[in-house]
Order: sequence, then structure tokens, then C-alpha cells
Amino acid sequence: MSGKFILAQISDTHVRADDAGAAAAQLKKAMAQAAAYRADAIVLTGDLVNDELREEYAALARAIADPPAPLFLMPGNHDARGHMRALLPGHDYLPQAGNLSYVIEHFPVRIVVLDQIVPGETHGLLTPELAAWLDRTLAAAPNKPTIIALHHPPFLTHDLLFDRIGLLDADLLAEVIAHHPQVSRVICGHHHRVSFGQCAHAPVIVAPSTSWIYGLAMHDGQPIAPRTSEQPGWMLHAWTEQGGFASHFMGL
Ligand SMILES: [Fe+2]
Repeated sequence: MSGKFILAQISDTHVRADDAGAAAAQLKKAMAQAAAYRADAIVLTGDLVNDELREEYAALARAIADPPAPLFLMPGNHDARGHMRALLPGHDYLPQAGNLSYVIEHFPVRIVVLDQIVPGETHGLLTPELAAWLDRTLAAAPNKPTIIALHHPPFLTHDLLFDRIGLLDADLLAEVIAHHPQVSRVICGHHHRVSFGQCAHAPVIVAPSTSWIYGLAMHDGQPIAPRTSEQPGWMLHAWTEQGGFASHFMGL
């Protein structure tokens, strides 16, 4: 296995059944760009669809039927675990019971996917059980560079809305990561805008949405979650054995 790895992170695609295929087209455009950069793998960090509808998952299944690289899914707060298991053929790595956390082992970088959604809620939650699973999982490969992928950013963004609907008990995540120096990146979505934070020693990178970008509301009286004309896109995370990680915003 070579000492080089390119991960395309595509997030918050919000595929719909009533938008004439617009969101699915953005997803396909991002995958085509990822193919041009010879991505080794693609991960979709949640909010795959907009309203948890069966027909939306059918549209998503069509959009990702022939991906240019191995493609991995995880849920966001707009997703339904049951529909993901039942309506997305070929994604057999998704656990059949419980939450949809799993590990991608067969690349030079290990990717630990953390499903911390709370069904019916907009916020996320890092439960003690999930923290224990993550701790055990990370302890199994202490010397392999590792990315943790989750939907909700585990840091305060200082945005009035997104700090209310962020990851509850994110301190638990930081406590676990602090014990595992091989965790080199935490990647997430949810906020529909590029931002950067930290969780223990690990940089956190928030990917934009492929569909629309939110501005910030940082002061009382400002509009909450205003849609802006900023460019949707995706993130390219490149790693080499010699140089470590670099993360790039890729505009659509
Ligand atoms: Fe979203």
C-alpha cells in the first residue's frame, strides 16, 4: 500500500425528490471533481437527504450508483438510519443494528465514522457508550494515522443557532481523542460553511454543503442561518507518509 491517500469529503448534500435533481446534480459534480483529483475514497458526512423520505433515498441511490472511488455514508440530523440500511443497496458496511458507526480499515489512513445523531433532534450527542466504543476502536490501531468523521462539529462555532444545535457533550470526544495521538484530523459537516476548530490535539475541519452555504449570526438581532451567495463545495484531504495531512476547499 502506497504512502499516499486522498479522501474526498462531500457533506450536507440534502438530496431531494422535488428539486428537479438539483441537489443530486451537485453531488455528482463533486464526485466528478473528486475523480479528476484521483481520490482514493469518498465519504459523505451526513444530511444525505433533506427530509428522511424514501423517495429522496431512492434519488440518492441513483446518484451514487456508480461512484468513481469507494464511497462511504454516514447519517446527519436529516437522515433516518433505517432508510439508510434498507434503501441504499451495496452499502453493506453499515451495521445492521444500533447506530451507524464503523471503521474503514483498508487504506493507509484509518477512518473512524462516528454516528452521533439523535433521531428526531437537530443536535447531536456524544454518549458515554459511543465514547467507550471510540476509545476501544482507536486503541486497536494506535500507530496508524486516523481521521474521525462525524456530522456535528465538536466545538463552539460562536454562531447563535449552530451552538444551540451542535454536538452535546463534545467534551467527552475531546477526552477520548486526547488519549490517542494518532488522531490527526476530525472532519464534520452540519454547519454548511467551511470553518476550523480543535478537539484535544486534533484539528477539526467543517466541510461546506454541496447545496447551499449559511452565513453567521453572531449577535442578537441578526438573522439566524441566512443563506448566502458563498460558493458551495467539498473538501479534499490529502495525506502522504512524509508530509502528513493537508485539507483543501474545493468550490463547485
Ligand atoms: Fe445539513
